[in-house]
Amino acid sequence: MQKIKTQLIKINGDRSRWNGQVREIEWAAKLLTEGKIGVFPTETVYGLGALAMNEAAVSRVFKVKGRNRSNPLIVHVSSIQEAISLTTEFNETAMMLANKFWPGPLTMILPKNACIPSVTTSGLDTVGIRMPRNEITLELIRLAGPIAAPSANESTLPSGTTARDVMKDLNGKIDFIIDGGASGIGFESTIIDLTSDVPTILRRGGITEEELQNLIEVRLDRSIIKGKAEGKPKAPGMMFKHYSPKYAKVIAFMHNGSRMQTLYAIDQKGKELHDEGKKVKQVIFIFSGQIPDRMRDRMKRFGTVCAFSDAWQLGRHLFRTYREFDKRGTFILVEGAENYGIGRSINDRIRISANGNIVVPTTY
Ligand code: TXA
Ligand code: MG
Repeated sequence: MQKIKTQLIKINGDRSRWNGQVREIEWAAKLLTEGKIGVFPTETVYGLGALAMNEAAVSRVFKVKGRNRSNPLIVHVSSIQEAISLTTEFNETAMMLANKFWPGPLTMILPKNACIPSVTTSGLDTVGIRMPRNEITLELIRLAGPIAAPSANESTLPSGTTARDVMKDLNGKIDFIIDGGASGIGFESTIIDLTSDVPTILRRGGITEEELQNLIEVRLDRSIIKGKAEGKPKAPGMMFKHYSPKYAKVIAFMHNGSRMQTLYAIDQKGKELHDEGKKVKQVIFIFSGQIPDRMRDRMKRFGTVCAFSDAWQLGRHLFRTYREFDKRGTFILVEGAENYGIGRSINDRIRISANGNIVVPTTY
């Protein structure tokens, strides 16, 4: 692929402070309308976008990301009105959920309007739509129109949550990157299919199952219940390798009732790697909560310790931390979160990123 110049546009995410920079957003919008492609910030992860209606530009997004053509893109809108115009039926449930959660981390699958080119939705007759909660990006969409975008990363790698991480994957391949600061949530939106009899969650994400259950009856797609995609999942993306560092090996340690058991298993693995001759900088511990001081001191002899204060913090920093320590010969031992609320969304990502290397300690 020929290398091109990627313009980096830095904008303060706080609207009251980017008034003077509307010109920069206008400029990015102009590039999009000319068929260029670029990266924009959202509250979940960064997106790699093209105008949803521009077939050639959308094709380029697939190519640049190395994404399978059978894996459709989410279309990002700036208003409910715009979402309605992209579908043939924006039903009552869609309206209620949009009013409640947009702008925010919820993607709704709805019957697609013929105006959306089939390359954008990989030939499906549905479209995933979301209104992101980011003022810069909402303004960009208002100026340019609906933007089709996957997460801004090379396919299979952890999603980009900072402009710096995105640059590593995409610099020289795209026309611009808008740096709006680190993504606040740090992992992707929840995807809900509203075309089935009972609304079905296809991917857990920034809006929890519980939040949705409080409002409507929802089901979980089989691929989520089974923990892996079998056959043909409803969200094609669930089929592909995902969220994994390029070189480092992730080992996931999931809870099974007692957190102490999980911590003990991580400690044991750390010691084993140490005894095998791994250096401290080759072993990374990621914890989903604080750990006792004595345990931390002991583990520091085996590796680098990152203990986050709670599941939200873990979620916000997980992908960035994977990327930071991604080197050949490195092991990343990560503790799953408590399995409720947002913890479930994060655990799905941890499990997938571990590519089968999952430890669930037996409880006694
Ligand atoms: O938070 C997010 O959702 C981020 C930001 C950039 O908005 N986007 C994101 O896009 O995660 P991506 O492409 O990495 O994941 C989109 C997922 C894929 O698994 C894809 O298969 C599924 O959404 N999807 C998109 N359109 C669909 C459709 N019409 N039916 C079923 N699944 C769909
Ligand atoms: Mg992705």
